[in-house]
Amino acid sequence: MSNPSLLILPGDGIGPEVMAEVRKIISWFGDKRGLEFDVSEDLVGGAAYDAHGTPLTDETMEKAQEVDAVLLGAVGGPKYDNLDFSVKPERGLLRLRKEMDLYSNLRPAQCFDALADFSSLKKDIVAGLDIMIIRELTSGIYFGEPRGIIKEGNERVGINTQRYTESEIARVARSAFELARKRGNKVCSMEKANVMESGILWRDVVQEVHDAEYPDVELSHMYADAGAMQLVRAPKQFDVIVTDNLFGDLLSDAAAMLTGSLGMLPSASLGAPMANGRPKALYEPVHGSAPDIAGQAKANPCACILSFAMALRYSFDQGEEATRLEKAVEAVLADGVRTADLMQADGVDPATTSQMGDAVIAKLD
Ligand code: NAI
Ligand code: MG
Repeated sequence: MSNPSLLILPGDGIGPEVMAEVRKIISWFGDKRGLEFDVSEDLVGGAAYDAHGTPLTDETMEKAQEVDAVLLGAVGGPKYDNLDFSVKPERGLLRLRKEMDLYSNLRPAQCFDALADFSSLKKDIVAGLDIMIIRELTSGIYFGEPRGIIKEGNERVGINTQRYTESEIARVARSAFELARKRGNKVCSMEKANVMESGILWRDVVQEVHDAEYPDVELSHMYADAGAMQLVRAPKQFDVIVTDNLFGDLLSDAAAMLTGSLGMLPSASLGAPMANGRPKALYEPVHGSAPDIAGQAKANPCACILSFAMALRYSFDQGEEATRLEKAVEAVLADGVRTADLMQADGVDPATTSQMGDAVIAKLD
């Protein structure tokens, strides 16, 4: 059997800097755990524009469609701010998401004990938190027709349409139940079935998919506004939350901040299962290319490292190895090793990007 394949797209700014640490970790898993990947690397974003005049070449797009998982750093930077919209670095990322049809966006909110002080909530409410928000990413009110600003009588009217088909709801629901089986086996679905027809359909379809295919997973439903309250009141009651594009946008940003720093937040975007059963998948840190610290060895590689941990768990069925890696990150933080973004007071010298990566590897050993 051939090794699972991984396409690495470091991108711009701190993207290549944090990805260099992930490459060390990928090598570690090959050397020490016999977990070999066929790794290829390519350009995306501004780097691809500089080399090819486009933020994503057709060849790279094709490769992304063929591999088992794509791991991306970050794209963008001031150098590209004045480019035409059609070749902006972000377009490379958008093209990947669109052509791979990545409808299921996974944003974990995981609070490492050592960083619980960074949360805006009380320590005991967030310490040990480990929840996953799944946001539907390719439909809903950001895409529904009709849309626009029209003239009605003598005033303007802004229009957007929330629209979900049964199959769009069912596929993201499946993604949530599959994930729940690899975690705490609990899904909470959020909508506004009390005031929106699309919400009624959402609730019905999620329930139907559950009853027919995933009766072993514990399912509950919550109105999204109540869910927002519960998320800040007692977030640890949740395991997997599945919701639409709009509510997911808000809830995932709020949940992410329960845990503190942007430098710690991984994400995944998953699509339909491929012939080998693995979902189409793109893993990336939530943060951008951070031009303000690029080239200074200050970037925190943890968000990208934890994105690779998500790939191990959700693309490669290596849940135990994923946990091993997450525990290593946690142990490094518990030792007090900190990149600059995780420091609250001066006095100690912050760890560099590669010192942080090396510290994680030392813990893995
Ligand atoms: P950003 O996430 O790049 O940076 C925001 C702040 O957080 C900065 O002060 C930065 O130094 C800090 N930061 C981010 N990641 C960090 C890390 N790993 N370690 C330590 N500090 C970190 O967002 P910003 O500044 O709004 O955007 C910068 C560029 O990145 C823009 O061109 C934007 O379009 C692009 N961007 C790309 C994304 C992507 O590739 N998915 C996502 C967000 C922004
Ligand atoms: Mg957002």
